[in-house]
Amino acid sequence: MLEVLNHPLITHKLTQMRKKETGTKDFRENLDEIAELMAYEVCRDLPTRPVSIETPIGPTTGFELSREVVIVPILRAGIGLLDGIRRLVPTAKVGFIGMYRDEETLKPHEYFAKFPSNLDEAIVMVVDPMLATGGSAVDAINAIKKRGAKTIKLVSLVGVPEGVQAVQHAHPDVDIYLAALDDHLNEKGYIVPGLGDAGDRIFGTK
Ligand code: PRP
Ligand code: URA
Repeated sequence: MLEVLNHPLITHKLTQMRKKETGTKDFRENLDEIAELMAYEVCRDLPTRPVSIETPIGPTTGFELSREVVIVPILRAGIGLLDGIRRLVPTAKVGFIGMYRDEETLKPHEYFAKFPSNLDEAIVMVVDPMLATGGSAVDAINAIKKRGAKTIKLVSLVGVPEGVQAVQHAHPDVDIYLAALDDHLNEKGYIVPGLGDAGDRIFGTK
């Protein structure tokens, strides 16, 4: 399943991020706000269970989240989505996977992994702003499945059809959420029109 979360607030904030003159502070703040808006939609189907509670007026049945949520940012750029999602799901646990793309081959390399236990019972959100060739997302999801994860959602900001197809081919069971589906990849593997190198723009590196 692919869902492009078209919403005027998301589109407006993403447009600020795309502008080449937008600096690190505004880039990061817009990303953080989009993450929160996306999380609201991505969480729409989280399961709940009934609980008996007492309001100050009397007894009733409420509903609470019934499955643990684990957020897994793909380092580095995925960190930019973490706080916004955690504001909506503050009980979420967080795992990390470090991947970098070889700039020549565009192949991803894993350099770090640390996950909470019980991934098999959790709803795992893999988060990374960019879905380009899809190699990083496919490998990150492989690593998470190897640790037992069964319910996985991929949350990215900007994707291209190549990346979506790569993930759907390797992991047809994973739901993909994007803020925008862009046109294509250029010869260096950058998304066109995209927003440039997300990690560099979030952290002010180059
Ligand atoms: C970027 C981005 C994704 C990856 C997407 O990370 O954050 O992880 O590229 O490309 P792909 O779909 O072709 O794999 P990068 O390798 O630049 O590392 P960084 O997050 O440390 O900047
Ligand atoms: N990674 C990025 O940060 N930007 C792109 O356009 C493609 C991959």
